[in-house]
Amino acid sequence: MNPHALHCVPDALNEADTVTKQLAFDLLATAANAKADQFLATWLDKLAQNQVPAAIQLDLIEAAATRESLKPKLDAYTQTHTTNDELLEGGDVTTGRDIVTNHLGANCIACHTIEAKEGSQVGPNLKIIGSQKDRKYLLESLLNPIAQIAPGYGLISIALKDGKSISGSLDKEDATRMTLRMPDGKTQSIPRAQIATATPPISVMPPMLGILTKPQIRDVVAYLASLKAKTSKKK
Ligand code: HEC
Repeated sequence: MNPHALHCVPDALNEADTVTKQLAFDLLATAANAKADQFLATWLDKLAQNQVPAAIQLDLIEAAATRESLKPKLDAYTQTHTTNDELLEGGDVTTGRDIVTNHLGANCIACHTIEAKEGSQVGPNLKIIGSQKDRKYLLESLLNPIAQIAPGYGLISIALKDGKSISGSLDKEDATRMTLRMPDGKTQSIPRAQIATATPPISVMPPMLGILTKPQIRDVVAYLASLKAKTSKKK
């Protein structure tokens, strides 16, 4: 790395805007020297004391993870902070939009309609999801879809007393019937009296960690949070 760039890093970390700070940690990740190590160690201490802004926590953690010597400090932190809060803030909306629209592995568009007028209905429409849900919920939806299944979208499988079985999305249920939405969009209502067993609802959405990197998930959270209902007031 250019030594001049490293020289600028302390200033960048104290004064600059979020994006510059994130870039500064990227630089520190590639600068293998004692000064940079010391710097990251100091920032990890700040992190442990809750003194690092949310939007740059992931960048710090990823930079520190490149150093064997910082492993004990980093482990001590991650073992007590297991909720991935560092993915809530600091993502880039434009990059997130690009991932959601184009990333083949994540394949969001195969199941969700977002900005288009028409599209897949396998999962809920996300057009105004940023007005409906907070960032914590959105992040959880990506990391662990099964944790909270959007009503009407849980996939269940029902075994009937006559030996047949049937699966679809649980559209609604009451004391006497369960109504499933089939892949073709039609609904089928089944009297409980005919049901032997029903599985708990699952999500067909895959957990995204592993398909996407943590920085990518943070960008997707930023994009989803930006999907707001338009107010009637013109900009
Ligand atoms: C294989 C289909 C599939 C893929 C691929 C998929 N999803 Fe989903 N998604 C679903 C289904 C079904 C649900 C509803 C069940 C649930 O809550 O998990 C859902 C739920 C969600 C929710 C919660 C919505 C709510 O109203 O509670 C969000 C947010 C979301 N998906 C975003 C994404 C994003 C972003 C991607 C790509 C990174 C993606 N999904 C990829 C099927 C999918």
